[in-house]
Amino acid sequence: MYLRISITDRCNMRCLYCFPKGYKKLPKKELLSFEEIIELIAVLKDFGLRKIRITGGEPLLRKGVCRFAEKLFSMGIPVYISTNGALLERFAHSLRDSGITRVNVSVDSLREDRFGFITKTPLLPQVLRGIETAQKAGLEVKVNSVLMKNINDDEIFDFLDYFLPRKIRLRFIEFMPFPHTRNQFEKLFVPYEEILNRISERYSVSYAGTDGVAKEFKIKEFEATVGFISPVSKPFCRNCDRLRLTASGKLKVCLHSGWEFDVKEILRHGNKGRLKEAVKEALELKAQISSPRWKAERSMVEIGG
Ligand code: GTP
Ligand code: 5AD
Ligand code: SF4
Repeated sequence: MYLRISITDRCNMRCLYCFPKGYKKLPKKELLSFEEIIELIAVLKDFGLRKIRITGGEPLLRKGVCRFAEKLFSMGIPVYISTNGALLERFAHSLRDSGITRVNVSVDSLREDRFGFITKTPLLPQVLRGIETAQKAGLEVKVNSVLMKNINDDEIFDFLDYFLPRKIRLRFIEFMPFPHTRNQFEKLFVPYEEILNRISERYSVSYAGTDGVAKEFKIKEFEATVGFISPVSKPFCRNCDRLRLTASGKLKVCLHSGWEFDVKEILRHGNKGRLKEAVKEALELKAQISSPRWKAERSMVEIGG
């Protein structure tokens, strides 16, 4: 089992597909403390926890994140992190020193005006510098890019040209509907096959297998692969072993269902027995999901992707 932990719902960006207008951040005391998260992880270890990904909001905004990662490594669990990259320049070396070897960074446009439109910030140069610093620090970098129709879907080749020669792994993610974007879904969604076809018209492309949730394709001219994450057009639920912990302490069975367990309540007022029962129930429910229900009741800023 693989756990994705949102350690904060704070973010220094306002990405249109993630952050609902008027979203009110949780009061600090409603966030799980690192100690509480570690208590849960100790229980999950008995259920076969094999990997952790730290997400947010923006995880680098939470004080103590590197020490937290170090602690997880000391418990024998590999840890990775997904970030928007804005603080990576400052954190790359401490992340590496904590034991982290790979970071995933979101970059949805290489044009400053569009990056501004999508994220509501002027931070593109800072993110690109962050990626460079991370690489220099010896971290492997994967870039995630959500392509949206008539917003950034004409940048496919710019992404390939920029990232692949720099030895940065690139993955295009299909736009997923969440409560505040459901009504824009038809307008913005681009199926991965359309992107793949466009790339194939220009380059020699061949299937190269899967890497986690991504399908990888080799582009001969770049001597590199590009990945596609296609939760909408080709869901991968049957192979999914991810649980998610929200910043507010809910253990989510699936990104796109409302099924969740209030582990914060149990951690604060219950006991280990109840915690184990909740985890067992969550895993049993998970085994029943064979396709996405598209019933997410929370937005990505709370769940962390
Ligand atoms: P690694 O496989 O460890 O590299 O992680 P990842 O690719 O899952 O991590 P990342 O945070 O970069 O995730 C990329 C995005 O893929 C997520 O934010 C989601 O948009 C999508 N994704 C990852 N896991 C799932 C999943 O279980 N279900 C769905 N529907 N989408 C997922
Ligand atoms: N659809 C697809 N991907 C999303 N992400 C956040 N919200 C969405 C969405 N609605 C992606 C981010 C980040 C990853 C953790 O999740 O771009 O790369
Ligand atoms: Fe996993 Fe749910 Fe995504 Fe399916 S929709 S792959 S079960 S998180």
